[in-house]
Amino acid sequence: MKIKESIFITSSSALEQCPPPIKAEFAFIGRSNVGKSSLINMLTGRKNLAKTSSKPGKTQLINHFEIDNTWYLVDLPGYGWSKVSKQKKADWGKMIEEYLLKRENLECLFVLIDSRLPPQNIDYEFITWLGEKGIPFIMVFTKTDKQSKSKFQSIKAKHLKRLKTDWVDLPVLFESSAIDQSGKKELLKFVQEVLVDLKK
Ligand code: GTP
Ligand code: MG
Repeated sequence: MKIKESIFITSSSALEQCPPPIKAEFAFIGRSNVGKSSLINMLTGRKNLAKTSSKPGKTQLINHFEIDNTWYLVDLPGYGWSKVSKQKKADWGKMIEEYLLKRENLECLFVLIDSRLPPQNIDYEFITWLGEKGIPFIMVFTKTDKQSKSKFQSIKAKHLKRLKTDWVDLPVLFESSAIDQSGKKELLKFVQEVLVDLKK
Protein backbone atom coordinates (compact mmCIF):
# COMPACT_ATOMS: atom_id res chain seq x y z
CA MET A 1 0.00 0.00 0.00
CA LYS A 2 1.12 3.51 -0.75
CA ILE A 3 -0.41 6.52 0.97
CA LYS A 4 -1.62 9.14 -1.49
CA GLU A 5 -3.32 11.71 0.68
CA SER A 6 -2.86 12.60 4.34
CA ILE A 7 -4.85 15.38 5.94
CA PHE A 8 -4.51 16.78 9.43
CA ILE A 9 -8.00 16.73 10.94
CA THR A 10 -7.81 17.89 14.53
CA SER A 11 -5.97 17.97 17.85
CA SER A 12 -8.07 16.84 20.80
CA SER A 13 -7.50 17.11 24.53
CA ALA A 14 -10.25 14.62 25.34
CA LEU A 15 -11.93 11.60 23.78
CA GLU A 16 -15.19 13.43 23.12
CA GLN A 17 -13.38 15.96 20.91
CA CYS A 18 -11.98 13.26 18.61
CA PRO A 19 -13.51 12.88 15.12
CA PRO A 20 -16.53 10.55 14.89
CA PRO A 21 -15.32 6.94 15.20
CA ILE A 22 -16.39 5.94 11.71
CA LYS A 23 -13.03 5.08 10.17
CA ALA A 24 -10.52 2.43 11.21
CA GLU A 25 -7.85 3.95 13.42
CA PHE A 26 -4.17 3.17 14.10
CA ALA A 27 -2.47 5.11 16.90
CA PHE A 28 1.18 5.63 17.79
CA ILE A 29 2.38 5.66 21.37
CA GLY A 30 5.67 5.25 23.26
CA ARG A 31 8.12 7.21 25.37
CA SER A 32 8.65 10.86 24.60
CA ASN A 33 11.21 11.36 21.84
CA VAL A 34 11.04 7.73 20.64
CA GLY A 35 10.05 8.93 17.16
CA LYS A 36 6.24 8.63 16.94
CA SER A 37 5.66 11.83 14.97
CA SER A 38 8.69 11.18 12.74
CA LEU A 39 7.38 7.71 11.89
CA ILE A 40 4.01 9.17 10.92
CA ASN A 41 5.80 11.58 8.58
CA MET A 42 7.88 8.77 7.14
CA LEU A 43 4.86 6.54 6.48
CA THR A 44 2.86 9.33 4.86
CA GLY A 45 5.83 10.69 2.92
CA ARG A 46 5.19 14.14 4.37
CA LYS A 47 8.07 15.95 6.05
CA ASN A 48 6.10 18.09 8.46
CA LEU A 49 2.66 16.55 8.73
CA ALA A 50 3.19 15.66 12.40
CA LYS A 51 5.27 18.11 14.43
CA THR A 52 8.60 16.70 15.62
CA SER A 53 11.32 18.01 17.92
CA SER A 54 14.68 16.97 19.30
CA LYS A 55 13.30 17.87 22.73
CA PRO A 56 10.92 15.41 24.38
CA GLY A 57 7.33 16.43 25.03
CA LYS A 58 6.53 17.94 21.63
CA THR A 59 3.22 16.18 20.99
CA GLN A 60 0.80 17.01 23.79
CA LEU A 61 -2.62 16.27 22.32
CA ILE A 62 -4.40 13.49 20.42
CA ASN A 63 -3.74 14.33 16.74
CA HIS A 64 -5.87 12.79 14.02
CA PHE A 65 -4.73 12.47 10.40
CA GLU A 66 -7.07 11.12 7.75
CA ILE A 67 -5.41 8.83 5.25
CA ASP A 68 -6.74 8.34 1.73
CA ASN A 69 -10.23 9.15 2.95
CA THR A 70 -10.35 5.68 4.49
CA TRP A 71 -8.54 5.43 7.82
CA TYR A 72 -7.03 7.49 10.62
CA LEU A 73 -3.46 7.70 11.85
CA VAL A 74 -3.23 9.11 15.36
CA ASP A 75 -0.20 10.76 16.91
CA LEU A 76 -0.31 10.60 20.72
CA PRO A 77 1.81 12.34 23.36
CA GLY A 78 4.68 10.33 24.79
CA TYR A 79 4.91 8.87 28.25
CA GLY A 80 7.88 8.86 30.63
CA TRP A 81 8.87 12.47 30.16
CA SER A 82 10.36 13.63 33.45
CA LYS A 83 10.34 17.41 32.95
CA VAL A 84 6.63 17.83 33.41
CA SER A 85 4.51 18.69 36.43
CA LYS A 86 2.69 15.95 38.34
CA GLN A 87 -0.61 17.59 37.44
CA LYS A 88 0.15 17.56 33.72
CA LYS A 89 1.31 13.96 33.89
CA ALA A 90 -1.95 13.00 35.59
CA ASP A 91 -4.01 14.93 33.00
CA TRP A 92 -2.22 13.25 30.08
CA GLY A 93 -2.55 9.86 31.75
CA LYS A 94 -6.29 10.37 32.09
CA MET A 95 -6.65 11.63 28.51
CA ILE A 96 -4.70 8.74 26.99
CA GLU A 97 -6.26 6.08 29.21
CA GLU A 98 -9.75 7.21 28.31
CA TYR A 99 -8.83 7.29 24.62
CA LEU A 100 -7.28 3.81 24.69
CA LEU A 101 -10.07 2.23 26.69
CA LYS A 102 -13.03 3.79 24.89
CA ARG A 103 -12.05 4.59 21.32
CA GLU A 104 -14.21 2.04 19.58
CA ASN A 105 -12.59 2.31 16.12
CA LEU A 106 -9.02 1.83 17.42
CA GLU A 107 -7.93 -1.23 15.47
CA CYS A 108 -4.33 -1.38 16.60
CA LEU A 109 -1.93 0.57 18.74
CA PHE A 110 1.69 0.85 17.58
CA VAL A 111 3.93 0.84 20.65
CA LEU A 112 7.26 2.40 19.69
CA ILE A 113 10.47 1.34 21.42
CA ASP A 114 13.91 2.93 20.96
CA SER A 115 15.96 0.20 19.29
CA ARG A 116 19.10 1.31 21.15
CA LEU A 117 17.77 0.58 24.62
CA PRO A 118 17.50 -2.73 26.48
CA PRO A 119 14.00 -3.49 27.82
CA GLN A 120 12.67 -0.61 29.94
CA ASN A 121 10.16 -1.25 32.73
CA ILE A 122 8.00 1.69 31.70
CA ASP A 123 7.34 0.12 28.28
CA TYR A 124 6.80 -3.36 29.64
CA GLU A 125 4.43 -2.17 32.36
CA PHE A 126 2.50 -0.34 29.68
CA ILE A 127 2.14 -3.34 27.35
CA THR A 128 1.16 -5.54 30.32
CA TRP A 129 -1.64 -3.06 30.98
CA LEU A 130 -2.65 -3.22 27.28
CA GLY A 131 -2.81 -7.01 27.57
CA GLU A 132 -4.97 -6.81 30.71
CA LYS A 133 -7.35 -4.43 28.99
CA GLY A 134 -7.42 -6.39 25.75
CA ILE A 135 -6.16 -3.49 23.63
CA PRO A 136 -4.57 -4.84 20.41
CA PHE A 137 -1.02 -3.65 19.80
CA ILE A 138 2.17 -4.28 17.86
CA MET A 139 5.70 -3.14 18.74
CA VAL A 140 7.96 -1.05 16.52
CA PHE A 141 11.69 -0.63 17.22
CA THR A 142 12.59 2.88 16.06
CA LYS A 143 15.79 4.68 15.01
CA THR A 144 17.50 1.53 13.72
CA ASP A 145 19.81 3.75 11.61
CA LYS A 146 21.52 4.91 14.79
CA GLN A 147 23.44 1.71 15.45
CA SER A 148 24.92 -1.35 13.81
CA LYS A 149 22.78 -4.35 12.87
CA SER A 150 24.68 -6.60 15.28
CA LYS A 151 24.20 -4.21 18.21
CA PHE A 152 20.49 -4.11 17.49
CA GLN A 153 20.28 -7.90 17.24
CA SER A 154 21.67 -8.24 20.74
CA ILE A 155 19.20 -5.65 22.09
CA LYS A 156 16.36 -7.37 20.26
CA ALA A 157 17.33 -10.71 21.82
CA LYS A 158 16.96 -9.12 25.25
CA HIS A 159 13.49 -7.87 24.33
CA LEU A 160 12.46 -11.28 23.04
CA LYS A 161 13.63 -12.87 26.28
CA ARG A 162 11.63 -10.36 28.31
CA LEU A 163 8.56 -10.77 26.10
CA LYS A 164 8.69 -14.56 26.43
CA THR A 165 8.54 -14.32 30.23
CA ASP A 166 5.22 -12.43 30.05
CA TRP A 167 3.46 -13.50 26.87
CA VAL A 168 2.37 -16.85 25.45
CA ASP A 169 1.78 -15.35 22.01
CA LEU A 170 4.42 -12.75 21.26
CA PRO A 171 3.27 -9.44 19.82
CA VAL A 172 4.11 -8.71 16.19
CA LEU A 173 7.43 -6.82 15.98
CA PHE A 174 8.60 -4.33 13.37
CA GLU A 175 11.80 -2.33 12.90
CA SER A 176 11.91 1.17 11.47
CA SER A 177 14.00 4.19 10.69
CA ALA A 178 12.57 7.55 9.77
CA ILE A 179 15.95 8.39 8.23
CA ASP A 180 16.48 5.51 5.82
CA GLN A 181 12.74 4.67 5.53
CA SER A 182 13.22 1.07 6.58
CA GLY A 183 10.07 -0.59 7.84
CA LYS A 184 7.78 1.58 5.72
CA LYS A 185 6.69 -1.16 3.35
CA GLU A 186 6.17 -3.68 6.14
CA LEU A 187 4.16 -1.34 8.39
CA LEU A 188 1.90 -0.19 5.56
CA LYS A 189 1.37 -3.81 4.51
CA PHE A 190 0.32 -4.59 8.08
CA VAL A 191 -2.22 -1.72 8.04
CA GLN A 192 -3.54 -2.85 4.68
CA GLU A 193 -4.05 -6.41 5.93
CA VAL A 194 -6.02 -5.15 8.94
CA LEU A 195 -8.16 -2.97 6.66
CA VAL A 196 -8.83 -5.90 4.31
CA ASP A 197 -9.79 -8.14 7.25
CA LEU A 198 -12.26 -5.52 8.46
CA LYS A 199 -14.09 -5.66 5.12
CA LYS A 200 -14.61 -9.43 5.37
P1 GTP B 1 7.09 13.42 21.60
O1 GTP B 1 6.09 14.04 20.70
O2 GTP B 1 7.87 14.42 22.38
O3 GTP B 1 6.51 12.36 22.48
O4 GTP B 1 8.23 12.71 20.69
P2 GTP B 1 8.06 11.74 19.43
O5 GTP B 1 8.03 10.33 19.90
O6 GTP B 1 6.94 12.16 18.56
O7 GTP B 1 9.46 11.95 18.69
P3 GTP B 1 9.80 12.82 17.37
O8 GTP B 1 9.22 12.16 16.17
O9 GTP B 1 9.46 14.24 17.63
O10 GTP B 1 11.38 12.61 17.27
C1 GTP B 1 12.24 12.92 18.34
C2 GTP B 1 13.64 13.12 17.81
O11 GTP B 1 14.17 11.89 17.30
C3 GTP B 1 13.74 14.11 16.65
O12 GTP B 1 14.94 14.85 16.80
C4 GTP B 1 13.78 13.23 15.42
O13 GTP B 1 14.45 13.83 14.33
C5 GTP B 1 14.56 12.04 15.93
N1 GTP B 1 14.20 10.80 15.22
C6 GTP B 1 12.96 10.28 15.11
N2 GTP B 1 12.97 9.13 14.41
C7 GTP B 1 14.26 8.91 14.06
C8 GTP B 1 14.94 7.87 13.32
O14 GTP B 1 14.36 6.90 12.84
N3 GTP B 1 16.30 8.01 13.19
C9 GTP B 1 16.99 9.04 13.73
N4 GTP B 1 18.31 9.05 13.56
N5 GTP B 1 16.39 10.03 14.41
C10 GTP B 1 15.04 9.98 14.59
MG1 MG C 1 5.52 13.55 18.86
